[in-house]
Amino acid sequence: MSDIQKYIATHKDRFINELIELLKIPSISADSAFAKATTQTATAVAESLRNAGCDQVQICETPGYPIVYADKIIDPKLPTVLVYGHYDVQPPDPLDLWDSPPFEPVIKATDKHPDGAIFARGACDDKGQMYMHVKAMEYMTENDQLPCNVKFMIEGEEEVGSANLAWFVERNQEKLANDVILISDTGMIANDIPSITTGLRGLSYVEVEVTGPNRDLHSGLYGGAVANPINILAKMIASLHDENNHITVKGFYDKVEELTATERAKMAEAPFSLENYKNALHIDAVYGEEGYTTNERNSIRPTLDVNGIWGGYIGEGAKTVIASKAYAKISMRLVPHQDWEEITHLFKVHFESIAPAGVTVKVTPHHGGQGYVTPIDSIGYQAAEKAYEQTFGKTPIPQRSGGSIPIVALFEKELKSKTILMGFGLDSDAIHSPNEHFGIWNYLKGIETIPYFYRYFTELYS
Ligand code: BES
Ligand code: MN
Ligand code: MN
Repeated sequence: MSDIQKYIATHKDRFINELIELLKIPSISADSAFAKATTQTATAVAESLRNAGCDQVQICETPGYPIVYADKIIDPKLPTVLVYGHYDVQPPDPLDLWDSPPFEPVIKATDKHPDGAIFARGACDDKGQMYMHVKAMEYMTENDQLPCNVKFMIEGEEEVGSANLAWFVERNQEKLANDVILISDTGMIANDIPSITTGLRGLSYVEVEVTGPNRDLHSGLYGGAVANPINILAKMIASLHDENNHITVKGFYDKVEELTATERAKMAEAPFSLENYKNALHIDAVYGEEGYTTNERNSIRPTLDVNGIWGGYIGEGAKTVIASKAYAKISMRLVPHQDWEEITHLFKVHFESIAPAGVTVKVTPHHGGQGYVTPIDSIGYQAAEKAYEQTFGKTPIPQRSGGSIPIVALFEKELKSKTILMGFGLDSDAIHSPNEHFGIWNYLKGIETIPYFYRYFTELYS
């Protein structure tokens, strides 16, 4: 057993219990009813960083939820690692689909996690993964194993677009200066197939409103004679993909980076079972853009999806009515070189242009961000690769993810450093879904792997 493995074995129960306490606080950033709990979580995170041996710990106020900053600078000549994570979580609804309440963590074994997993909102995204860094820090400071300088920046608004973090980063370049950014807020292929995330997709999120007549109408007296906003909205949405599932928004693909045949062949080497994929989701077929594999569709290709749609009567029984308005929330996942603001604009122009006479259309942008691809020849990536080789006994596979952490592109722009995405979650951990969980094995493996990253990064740096 290595020293870190011994330390984890000794303190394992406490590591789990501390995370459970953090998971009990409902830090739902999207819902102002949970504002107090969200702020309280920042205090708890700050406290844990102080206990882990950070010298300077600050709760930095912003116009929104505070950012927890902490550091330990042991020698200005040594490199500095900046750890980013988030303490806010997604809303847990629909509550009735949870087997146990989202903020009352329980440990249960699953197929993928025979050693048990902690079930709670935020277990994997991102409290559990963020807390691995706090415990790795504790190990390094307690055992005189910290080889370089560390800064932590843990925010509370990732799930709502990180607007105030952007504000904070732009104003604190000096304070946040670093040589590499380290984030655990993504996943890996499987517990016996480690992988490192090398890409994140960008995002453009919009809301649309279609207005027909000035009031809700009797569908017998007016039906068939005026445009029904819900019918129209459904038609407009359906037209956003063609028969090959390409997106029809004019100019949408203009800047999309096409991968070479070699790059695509390399991607296809990653282990993947379409059968298992379908079985896990109880679907009899996959669906998506013609000409691309499932792994390509959910990582290197841009997409457009309706995330919510509403309007008209949805109460009990039947009501014969033509609604005055219909709405939808639509998100587009973007790939390198697509600019999210430009895509938002292209969408708006296109969507307004396809509205038939008889309705008016309003497109309101929400948030967005650029995609990100991290090079694999950097010393940061190499240090991460060596760290995984040490603790998994296997070379991790570089893999681009379909998810988004929009702030990462901004880090590169403002702080001029690369981000390494060491995620330890699994796709089946149900982040953003009911029964989110995080494997105990994954949690402890993360704590074990992180100190090696620091060691190898410091070695490769000098
Ligand atoms: N941690 C996720 C992103 C993620 C998960 C990336 C798994 C890769 C693999 C993050 O918290 C998240 O949910 N991001 C949002 C975007 C944000 C602007 C709300 C997303 O991807 O939908
Ligand atoms: Mn996250
Ligand atoms: Mn998330």
